[in-house]
Amino acid sequence: MRKNQEFKNILAARAGAIRRSAELIRAGELVAFPTETVYGLGANALDPRAVAKIFEAKRRPRFDPLIVHVASQGEALELWKGAPPLARQLMNRFWPGPLTLVLAKSEIVPDIVTAGLDTVAVRIPAHPVALALLRAARRPIAAPSANMFGRSSPTTAQAVAEDLGDRVAMILDGGRCPIGLESTVISLSARAVEILRIGATPLAELKEALGRRMTVKIVTKSRRPRSPGMLKHHYAPAKPLFLLVATGRRRPGTSFPFPHGKTRRPTSVHPLSRAALLAFASADEKGAFLAVEILSASGDLAEAAANYFAALRKLDGTKADFILAQEVPEEGLGLAIMDRLCRAAAGTAMINWVTRSAMLFARE
Ligand code: TXA
Ligand code: MG
Repeated sequence: MRKNQEFKNILAARAGAIRRSAELIRAGELVAFPTETVYGLGANALDPRAVAKIFEAKRRPRFDPLIVHVASQGEALELWKGAPPLARQLMNRFWPGPLTLVLAKSEIVPDIVTAGLDTVAVRIPAHPVALALLRAARRPIAAPSANMFGRSSPTTAQAVAEDLGDRVAMILDGGRCPIGLESTVISLSARAVEILRIGATPLAELKEALGRRMTVKIVTKSRRPRSPGMLKHHYAPAKPLFLLVATGRRRPGTSFPFPHGKTRRPTSVHPLSRAALLAFASADEKGAFLAVEILSASGDLAEAAANYFAALRKLDGTKADFILAQEVPEEGLGLAIMDRLCRAAAGTAMINWVTRSAMLFARE
């Protein structure tokens, strides 16, 4: 892994660097920038050639639709064919913020942004650097998370540099992302709101804003993924990750059953000394593991979310053979954490404290 100092294109997000980044965006170059959720890899959304560079840089094997970031509701409305009253209500309530709305696109949105779909995903980020960049560039900015395809989302400029340092014109360093998990993605149709990706806007808040008349459907488990965030092996670290489940249970989660299902017979047993532990609030017998990261010592889910991707990257960088992850409570942002853990997991695990080993159950 290369050291941060080797990248000359990481700049603290001050006025001059933001101005320079805005020029680069207008010139069709790539700029990585912080948002309140994760770092984005941005390009002028109205310039197909600039957008193509995003896919090249991330080495996405195929084109997936991107989220377009804007600085105002007016700009969002230009990207859509129209917006129903419900969309306006949600924009007023949640923007700027981590809610992405998918609606029918207008003609100005290039096909490469939407991967040929007739809808486009849009949000106003709630991060001063992202907003300043958008205003200075005077362009909508298409930006997926600034990681190589298949790796977890970066929440620091250093994590961006490790993945994409030599593939972007500039990385704006705005410190650590305050939320740490990607936005909630929803699509609006006549009678229902479909959740395409569980994320940083808690489900309960969304339901509360929508009132009881509206049906909210979680479609993240659909068989034919409409959103790559639905893919089962998304968000995975390089090392195999196993979700620790309570004794007697082979599958984690209740509202988040292990996506795509079953786990096989016990496949292998390994000493805990070869394992890295991703703990929620505390860890028993920390010394048994090769490395331990605690997401939030006080058991705060917002703090855990903010630390999630960075902790995973740290454990991925250790010499451990595999990662064991504790479950987190399935409420508030815990739902989004569990969603990502379940997708990242290669299977489930149980610890035997007598033999200080982990029994691993591989996913089918
Ligand atoms: O928090 C975030 O959303 C971050 C920051 C940078 O804004 N961005 C992000 O982008 O996570 P990305 O590309 O990693 O994820 C975009 C998600 C994908 O799951 C994609 O499939 C979905 O949004 N999406 C985008 N356009 C869509 C569309 N037209 N229909 C359905 N899903 C769409
Ligand atoms: Mg992503």
